[in-house]
Amino acid sequence: MSARSDTVVPMTRIDKNAVEVRGLVKHYGETKALDGVDLDVREGTVLGVLGPNGAGKTTLVRCLSTLIVPDAGHATVAGCDVVRQPRQLRRSIGLTGQYASVDEKLSGRENLYMIGRLLDLSRKDARRRAEELLERFSLTEAARRPAGQYSGGMRRRLDLAASMIGRPAVLYLDEPTTGLDPRTRNEVWEEVRRMVAEGATVLLTTQYMEEAEQLASEVTVIDRGRVIAGGAVDELKAKVGGRTLQIRPSDPAQLAAMARAVAEAGLDGVGGVSAVPDEGQLYVPILSDEQLTAVVGVLSTHGFRIAHIGTHLPSLDEVFLAITGGKTSPAPVGTTIPEEVAA
Ligand SMILES: Nc1ncnc2c1ncn2[C@@H]1O[C@H](COP(=O)(O)OP(=O)(O)O)[C@@H](O)[C@H]1O
Ligand SMILES: [Mg+2]
Repeated sequence: MSARSDTVVPMTRIDKNAVEVRGLVKHYGETKALDGVDLDVREGTVLGVLGPNGAGKTTLVRCLSTLIVPDAGHATVAGCDVVRQPRQLRRSIGLTGQYASVDEKLSGRENLYMIGRLLDLSRKDARRRAEELLERFSLTEAARRPAGQYSGGMRRRLDLAASMIGRPAVLYLDEPTTGLDPRTRNEVWEEVRRMVAEGATVLLTTQYMEEAEQLASEVTVIDRGRVIAGGAVDELKAKVGGRTLQIRPSDPAQLAAMARAVAEAGLDGVGGVSAVPDEGQLYVPILSDEQLTAVVGVLSTHGFRIAHIGTHLPSLDEVFLAITGGKTSPAPVGTTIPEEVAA
């Protein structure tokens, strides 16, 4: 090997990818569960894979866990190829499924101990690791009860603990909080943050924009097996529109005139104004409080009287509509001001 003496070769690349996926395809008959997916997860970060039911999230996780073999494309995890180095790859990963994989008849403690043993830990190490994780996931008190008697939140915590026994470098969390109450969801989020602080790389699938915002630095949005958007969470939010202002005029007859006034004011970052006569409301997507003030300012300058103002956070469905070129407005019908140009 020859290298010029003045060439600096860094020992480790900054921004190394723990997961690299290129053109991944998995079809089930006519169903294109994955239809050419590309994504990267940088080491030590959380990538949120956002998508509705049936988008292909679990199929992606299963491919990356070597549980199923993709039809085409390729993927590496911690430097191992999913197809050619499955055994090696499995040593680097932890998986928390949407459907908890614990044995209901065994106690929480026994479940963790057994998994530790399956991962080749010595009896002593498996025992120690089980106690450590029980403690950490607030399961010590319930440790002797069969997992079948656990509440949904406890089951989920046990499942998370189980995925961490082998201290995996890369963790897949497949909809870890779907169906959990808000308090338990927060507990799970805390644990995920802790794992990442300790250096884990996480690929998190979710149907919740909020969950992605809470945990992920970057997001890849998939729908019907394809990546439809991606990037930093803030960029995506900016692209989608943070909130929608709902404005109800005192006089419903002024709705169209109000919409025109806002649209013609050309406020920075405010776009896609729509008036919905059926509801007597105006919808204005905004990205900041300043824009809220500016919109209200324009309306009062024109002498319009406002009866009610509300703000509405986009649901994932609306995010999809926005990304795929639909409206950001939650109302599918109504008069649309020409400013709103579909992509
Ligand atoms: N084993 C399978 N056999 C047939 N179809 C499947 C199978 N697994 C998933 N699919 C289909 O592939 C698509 C993606 O599913 P999935 O990856 O589970 O989506 P998500 O996890 O995002 O809800 C869905 O249309 C689903 O019905
Ligand atoms: Mg799924």
